[in-house]
Amino acid sequence: MKSDKKIAVLFLTIILSLFLILESFQSKQDCIIADKSEYLNFTGTCRSVQDKPKYHYVGIEKCASICHNNKEMGFQYNIMKSGPHSQAFNILASKKALHYAKNDNIKENPQQSSACLKCHVTGGGLDSTFFAATYKKEDGVTCEACHNGAYITRSFLPTEIECLKCHNNSVHNISRFDFREKYAKIAHPRPNKKAI
Ligand code: HEC
Ligand code: HEC
Ligand code: HEC
Repeated sequence: MKSDKKIAVLFLTIILSLFLILESFQSKQDCIIADKSEYLNFTGTCRSVQDKPKYHYVGIEKCASICHNNKEMGFQYNIMKSGPHSQAFNILASKKALHYAKNDNIKENPQQSSACLKCHVTGGGLDSTFFAATYKKEDGVTCEACHNGAYITRSFLPTEIECLKCHNNSVHNISRFDFREKYAKIAHPRPNKKAI
């Protein structure tokens, strides 16, 4: 009698394990078969990218006007506000901009054309759902454009690859790009790296 019970329990355990193994295999299969818009989240289940929290560009004021504008940090806010990138949107209203647009057969105002905005503002070319209320395109190319704001919230140090996304001749000719030389013109290092 006792051993009958044991066999029954063993039998049930085997059935249950088989079921669990098949089940986990099935959900992995779903993920593998599905297109790239599916991803495995940290619990190992399959989710759609639509469920990923969307990044919202917050703009230079929120990023830096307080935390990145002091001696310990190195005044990145002041430096970027007075550097060339802060003018990237404004220069789209210049005569030269109209000339570039004409050359490219762009009829609309360059300050409204995604063909120009894609390199002349942070998050250029994205629809309005990507921007927080604090974002202003008038601020031009700001912190989040280079520091990979859209993907990583903690510090990300850009390399030449980030610059070349915009510093290329795909739409109009620009000056030759040498990373060290160009970075020196916009340098904004943290003086005391132990500060944070
Ligand atoms: C692929 C990225 C990219 C796109 C797209 C782009 N620009 Fe630029 N633009 C730049 C960069 C980078 C600079 C800085 C160039 C330099 O001085 O090396 C620049 C500089 C400029 C300047 C000032 C520099 C100068 O030549 O005096 C104007 C004006 C300008 N762009 C207009 C436009 C207009 C108008 C459009 C749309 C038709 C446009 N840009 C599209 C990257 C881009
Ligand atoms: C045009 C691209 C660009 C923009 C815009 C930009 N940065 Fe940077 N930032 C860099 C690069 C490149 C470095 C240097 C990376 C290195 O040292 O290897 C850097 C370095 C830094 C550092 C120093 C990190 C360290 O550990 O020393 C801080 C802090 C920083 N940026 C903050 C900001 C803030 C805040 C803004 C906006 C006000 C901003 N950056 C805008 C490209 C940019
Ligand atoms: C989102 C696009 C974008 C990115 C990314 C970007 N830039 Fe720029 N950059 C521009 C535009 C647009 C201008 C023209 C702004 C102006 O003339 O007012 C410019 C102008 C400049 C200038 C002044 C003109 C010149 O060529 O001497 C320097 C220096 C510069 N960028 C360095 C860098 C460096 C270094 C990086 C990478 C760490 C970088 N930029 C990344 C768009 C970008």
